[in-house]
Amino acid sequence: MDAQSRLPIVQALMGHAEANPISFHVPGHKYGQIFTSHKEYFKQLLKLDVTELSGLDDLHAAEGVILEAETLLTEVFQVQKSYFMINGSTVGNLSMIMAACTEGDTVLVQRNCHKSVLHALRLAKANPIFLEPEYNPEWKVAEGIGVSTVNRAISLYPEAKAIILTYPNYYGMVYDLQGIIDEAHDFHIPVLVDEAHGAHFIVGSPFPTSAVKMGADIVVQSAHKTLPAMTMGAFLHFNSKLLFLDRVKYYLEIFQSSSPSYPIMASLDVARFYLATYNYQDRLFLQEKIQQFKNLLVSIPQIKVLDYPEPIGGDLLKVTIQSCCSLNGYELQKQLEAEAIYTELADPENVLLVLPLLKTDQEFPLETAAAKIKLRLAAFPTVEKNQEYTNISNGVSSLALDYKTMSILPSREIHIKEAAGEICAEQITPYPPGIPLLLEGELITEGKLHQLRNLLVSGAKFQGGTALKQGRLKVFYNIRM
Ligand SMILES: Cc1ncc(COP(=O)(O)O)c(C=O)c1O
Repeated sequence: MDAQSRLPIVQALMGHAEANPISFHVPGHKYGQIFTSHKEYFKQLLKLDVTELSGLDDLHAAEGVILEAETLLTEVFQVQKSYFMINGSTVGNLSMIMAACTEGDTVLVQRNCHKSVLHALRLAKANPIFLEPEYNPEWKVAEGIGVSTVNRAISLYPEAKAIILTYPNYYGMVYDLQGIIDEAHDFHIPVLVDEAHGAHFIVGSPFPTSAVKMGADIVVQSAHKTLPAMTMGAFLHFNSKLLFLDRVKYYLEIFQSSSPSYPIMASLDVARFYLATYNYQDRLFLQEKIQQFKNLLVSIPQIKVLDYPEPIGGDLLKVTIQSCCSLNGYELQKQLEAEAIYTELADPENVLLVLPLLKTDQEFPLETAAAKIKLRLAAFPTVEKNQEYTNISNGVSSLALDYKTMSILPSREIHIKEAAGEICAEQITPYPPGIPLLLEGELITEGKLHQLRNLLVSGAKFQGGTALKQGRLKVFYNIRM
């Protein structure tokens, strides 16, 4: 039997369940036996929800079925070592950044990164230098980083200990990551990539090239986002001559639960198997299905299906539709929800749909969804949209205060209209897609305040900014620039 068709964790768990075990161990539901409410929903899954019993290995000291499953994953990605993670890309980002830098280290960071990257920088007490992404005026979203931005940052900060990038962005957009990796490696700077949304790129064309294949030092992927894995299931791939594997392992152990979920790990086994067996026919089938779906959406006058910039392209599994009618992005999302069509995110202009990585002859109700969307939107008149964009690009920017000073300074709330020139004491992140508009320790400029007001008016949701609804922002006490 081909090694990749083995499912070591799944097979071990099924073998265990089929022996009708009597549980005198945690978890307390005892294979679901004393789980009374809504038992039918949980029944099969709870049989797999076990703990580190004989034959079932231990994620933190893998030497049995978990090691075997991770080795199969390592083979698929052809790296030095791949890990399963049960706390999402969040824990992968925390671990890879803590492994790569220590207190006071300068690190170059893509500004439109996930909050876990910022949390990691804070924990490491690093000195982040933020790199502004390019802005796409048609999509009205931030893309990736230009090679020239990285060149500039490296010439200003040649001592940088790492560069931390997000690839692809939430909308599936990619950029010249290869150029950046080559440039960084010329200066012996390791490249850490948050590829949370690109675990499937490894199957190859028509998907963009995976950061793993381009030679990134560490790559973190949320298997649960685009592969058939359970929520929180994620991968970390290590392939570096510049960093130490032991440090990554050390932090994975610190940050992850000492009771890792077996259903999640088993689903990662399934996801790896799915990837390893994803073939050329599957890719053709998927490409055709998605094209058919897009053709149906294109015939709806109230929306525009956005195309990725050429020739770089983007992720096939992401379809972004932009409102061409009286609805804004959030309202458009609500209209789809009224048809029980639940999408990944909305922003002021767009709604993002994440499609499944279908294999040949797998069914998914794409046509039905397109027909429902068409019918639902028919009543809305189309309108010309010409919303202006305030460019608040910082190019390469640093924080106005370091993390150590921030940790001892008190803060206070002030009205937004008095905030220009103050130092922000909280992170303001419109969510999704989780890109911070204002960072803790950053100077509040007029440009930032303008964008903040626009987002508030368009009904965006925020993480952080608890007093934003009352028009107030948290700033550091007694510091004004
Ligand atoms: C770019 C990016 N990185 C990391 C994460 C965190 O991933 P997880 O939910 O797997 O912890 C997300 C989640 O949305 C994300 O969008």
